Amino acid sequence: MASTRHALILSAVLAPTVSGLDNGLARTPAMGFNTWNVFRCGGVTAAAIEAVADHMLKLGLVELGYTYLNIDDCWSTDLAADGALVADPVAFPGGIGAVADAVHARGLKLGIYSDRGMLTCAGRPASGGREQLHARQFAEWGIDYLKYDSCWASNRHATAFEQYGRMRDALNATGRPILFSLCGWNAWYAPRGSSLGNSWRVAPDTDEWSNVYVAVRTNERLGAFAAPGAFNDPDMLVGSNPAAPVHFTPAQVQTQFSLWAVMAAPLLLGAPLEGMPPSDLATYSNEEVIAIDQDVLGVQGRVVWSNCPPFEPRDNWWMSPWSMPLDVALMWTQALAALLCVLGGLSSAASRGLFPRSGAVARGEDVGLPYRCLVLLARALRVLLATLAVVILLAIWGSRPKLDPCQMVWARPLAAGEHALCFVNFAEAPATVECDEACMAQLARSSSNAAAKFRVRDAVGRTDLEGERTSLAVTLDGDGASALYRLVPA
Ligand code: GLA
Repeated sequence: MASTRHALILSAVLAPTVSGLDNGLARTPAMGFNTWNVFRCGGVTAAAIEAVADHMLKLGLVELGYTYLNIDDCWSTDLAADGALVADPVAFPGGIGAVADAVHARGLKLGIYSDRGMLTCAGRPASGGREQLHARQFAEWGIDYLKYDSCWASNRHATAFEQYGRMRDALNATGRPILFSLCGWNAWYAPRGSSLGNSWRVAPDTDEWSNVYVAVRTNERLGAFAAPGAFNDPDMLVGSNPAAPVHFTPAQVQTQFSLWAVMAAPLLLGAPLEGMPPSDLATYSNEEVIAIDQDVLGVQGRVVWSNCPPFEPRDNWWMSPWSMPLDVALMWTQALAALLCVLGGLSSAASRGLFPRSGAVARGEDVGLPYRCLVLLARALRVLLATLAVVILLAIWGSRPKLDPCQMVWARPLAAGEHALCFVNFAEAPATVECDEACMAQLARSSSNAAAKFRVRDAVGRTDLEGERTSLAVTLDGDGASALYRLVPA
């Protein structure tokens, strides 16, 4: 764990210096809605965006601070002759500028999506090499937020920093403050994050509960890199509507929200607003939890107690085939070439009729030892290849992110010496989690108040706990249940 941290810090120190982002935005983590988990590539239209804006207003979300409405992938279909991005003319008949006007008229801000590579993750035109032109387009349309993905682009750190730097400079040059949200799905962006953007994705998409665990364990070691204007981004919030492409249980929805609040993470709703389960709406509308996320100090929380095993974030190059590191690409190329050679050799041997009497071998007829060996060898090779394929498939399946059945306590310092404390149970069975006196003393040391006695408020249940506490224990249900408290020095 320490070695990765050192490597991250070292890569920040050794990386060439670049000018910073100067848009003055995201002093607290961004809040809003993103289309990806709801629409994917079907149905992102001007009408749908306006309907989302109306829903956000109707549900009171805008008033609570969810002001960004971000269009994700699949809005553009083409590049014009000069390389400009062209919005789908059927989905956006008035262009993106008209959508921005409609969204602005409702008091919201509009976000858009592109990619630093050749294409977006869904294969639409992207901005690699055309940064200035596209940034100017975004500014002219009245865009307020850019999510900038990493598909079909190099996974070399220096190249990624350089390409993100190019779009950052292009956005700066427009003079329009556009929140710049990097989407590179890797922890190694964090040490350079604040020089490049307002937020940076640190892990894969949270489209499974185990990916939430991965994002949380990854973010656990990245707190030092977050500050007002620059936050680690563990991805969107997932609701519990079973009709949505991705969904969690209501308790997991609450836990993700509480954890995101103590991690000072952007709160971007990735759940359908129409038909949103009341429990999700109550979770996302809890002003006390939102206030923790939006605390002005902008300090990311840290783990103050945990029984989780050590965790090493892996490089998520597999999110985009083109971003595969060179050594991994070479290994796969060699393996594939060898496989093709063997298969090619076998099939040409068969087609040339080298084994015309293999049926006789199967029937146990005497065909001579050398011929018999050759046929058996060819069969063994086929079995070997089939086994190899199964092993590769199992390895891919086995490397899916796994959840450790463990518990954690996160603490986040808030303004005025207060703290937020989040208890989480990732195990399937219920568990009692305690932040004992030693655990609580860590909060006192990091705040200006020396007393390790706190008055405690349950931020989710919105009730005060009785008395003054020097420790706190809570019994949590299994499968991702949690509790979130606000602690005031007594
Ligand atoms: C990547 C990102 C997602 C989403 C899709 C769109 O997977 O991580 O958040 O933007 O691309 O294609």
